[in-house]
Amino acid sequence: MLSFDDYREGAEALSKKLSGFKPEVLIILGSGLGRLGEKLASPIVIPYGEIPHMKFSTAPGHAGRFLAGELGGKKVLLMQGRLHFYEGWAAEDAAFPIRVAKLLGIDKLIVTNAAGGINTGYKPGELMLISDFIKLNSVNPLIGPNMDEFGPRFPDMSRVFDREYMAAFRLVAESHGENIHEGVYFYCTGPQYETPAEIRAMRILGADAVGMSTVPECIAARHCGMRILGVTLVTNMAAGILDKPLSGEEVIEAGNAASERLSGYVREFLERI
Ligand code: HPA
Repeated sequence: MLSFDDYREGAEALSKKLSGFKPEVLIILGSGLGRLGEKLASPIVIPYGEIPHMKFSTAPGHAGRFLAGELGGKKVLLMQGRLHFYEGWAAEDAAFPIRVAKLLGIDKLIVTNAAGGINTGYKPGELMLISDFIKLNSVNPLIGPNMDEFGPRFPDMSRVFDREYMAAFRLVAESHGENIHEGVYFYCTGPQYETPAEIRAMRILGADAVGMSTVPECIAARHCGMRILGVTLVTNMAAGILDKPLSGEEVIEAGNAASERLSGYVREFLERI
């Protein structure tokens, strides 16, 4: 289990690598969505392995490094690749970079992910602003002794995603003619895709999309008081909706196809906040 000193050591190492550069926004890029990194002019590149206590990315389409630089007039720290519970890391490992970022003074988070569409009004390739999530009793990065330095034992989650950020991102997307949805993200650990029966159950519970990431990070980020924007790319319809099997390749391809477009919106969003 990580101690507060471990976070402090991670933050000190990252701060040293940043040599005076002070990011204000952390951006986590989902499957196949790493292209945003190319928009940073002469970024500082820091592989996760150079930060003590940080785990490495093993998921396809996740490079496993920080990039730091300017984007949309803001100083950003970008994660090309996130850490997932299904890779064998603990939920607190997936959330480690969030808390390290907080210790560096970062209090804004943008998360993107790939997900399956549960809402039959959605189509692959479309975007969804995450308005809330459902995790129920799955894994949680806050289990263990509470670190009061970050936040309270029983943090409020009644508004995880920032309304102003959602409105600003919506304006950007709609200015490009995008039909952007707003919906609830259901977290599953994976790595297997869901069964059709599970998807029907999630729909009854009020979910619009399903994925294997984002929620552990958002819980840790809200715990320490960050403002969060979450954007989902619907890469496929969830299991059982169409008469075909799901594949990881399909997800990466859809991510790659949307990466440039979503990256542009994130940059414009940063100009507005
Ligand atoms: N289910 C879970 N995670 C996903 C999916 C899905 O259908 N698509 C992309 N990530």
